[in-house]
Amino acid sequence: MRKAVITDRNIAEKTALVRVDFNVPLNGGSITDDTRIRAAIPTIEYLIEQKCRVILCSHLSRPRGQVVPEMSLRPCAERLAELTGRQVRFVEDCIGPQVEQAVAQMQPGDLSLLENTRFYADEEAKDEATIIEFGKKLAAPADFFVNDAFGACHRNHGSTYGVTKYLSPCVAGFLVELEIRSLSRILNAPEKGFIVVLGGAKVEDKIGVIESLLPKCEKMLIGGAMTWAFLKARGYEVGMSLCQPASVKAAREVDAKMSPYIDKLMVPVDAYMRNVAGDQGVKYTTVDAIEPGWDALDIGDRTREMYADLILKADNVFWNGPMGKFEDKPFDEGTLAVARAMGDCPGFNVVGGGDSVAAVTQMGVADAIDHISTGGGASLEYLEDGTLSAVEALDDK
Ligand code: 3PG
Repeated sequence: MRKAVITDRNIAEKTALVRVDFNVPLNGGSITDDTRIRAAIPTIEYLIEQKCRVILCSHLSRPRGQVVPEMSLRPCAERLAELTGRQVRFVEDCIGPQVEQAVAQMQPGDLSLLENTRFYADEEAKDEATIIEFGKKLAAPADFFVNDAFGACHRNHGSTYGVTKYLSPCVAGFLVELEIRSLSRILNAPEKGFIVVLGGAKVEDKIGVIESLLPKCEKMLIGGAMTWAFLKARGYEVGMSLCQPASVKAAREVDAKMSPYIDKLMVPVDAYMRNVAGDQGVKYTTVDAIEPGWDALDIGDRTREMYADLILKADNVFWNGPMGKFEDKPFDEGTLAVARAMGDCPGFNVVGGGDSVAAVTQMGVADAIDHISTGGGASLEYLEDGTLSAVEALDDK
């Protein structure tokens, strides 16, 4: 990586402000997936070994500048303490006197987690001056900055960008380094044998990554509700299938703008659909025979076979997004078929995005995946632009 990483600078015995992404799923106050907390531990342990005072900060969910008790980071402090066997002091604010007092009491090797940065609207203010001003307050108790919040590196916020104006050095943590190394290997993969699998609902959200990767890959396999948008844009009957006008418009744009590469873009040939106008029954169809009153919710068997075949033969694969309505059985089968193929693929493979990651875990193949990204949105943005704004704000090597 051309940006400085934590091991490139002498930071021993200094006070670190570490931006982590502890935006974890919670259910009734309990953490249902602690992957992101575990992923930050190597950086935290390294800083403790270096006898730093370690101040962690993060956002959690989208409280939009309000103090929302259900979005407190306290459960993350508790989980981090369990996972590391260390004492983690939770500070009920992220700026101001409470933080100053807590940091004044910290000894070398101590660990604190600050409260949700998004309890302050200035963290994600629209204007840069406000973001930088908020960054100044966050940076106040620290000497240097470590960004290990890969999942938030596409956000130009006080805690990811503003703080870099006041702390030195500003370096990447081990997680950010690993994510960028894995994704840049995907981005630089030779065209032959490079397969991209993109699912999910909205073509308009993926248009950037489609336009960036389609010229670079051998085949791009489309799934999820994006399928129906492409089919509708091409004049097919899609019945009651999820198909927002913005997605159809974006699909039309892709077809027009990417016409020299459009043969690489594979759209499903068959589907499973539900009779929403009638008895709710489920049946198989080819995509040219979707009837009015039916809702196509998953890719069909022929598409699953074709996609699996391409994945199994690939040298490099990137997958983001479900192939169907993953949360609604039996429409999870297409996504699980892709997950199985990813697990069996001998090539270099990377998975990002909530449902895709859940599918490889559910299939028991997570260990066979070379890299599971902790940032769905950030990984797509990296593949689109070849960089991320919060990473750019770090020091050069
Ligand atoms: C994520 O979950 O993708 C990151 O934590 C970023 O969260 P955000 O989309 O609310 O900025």
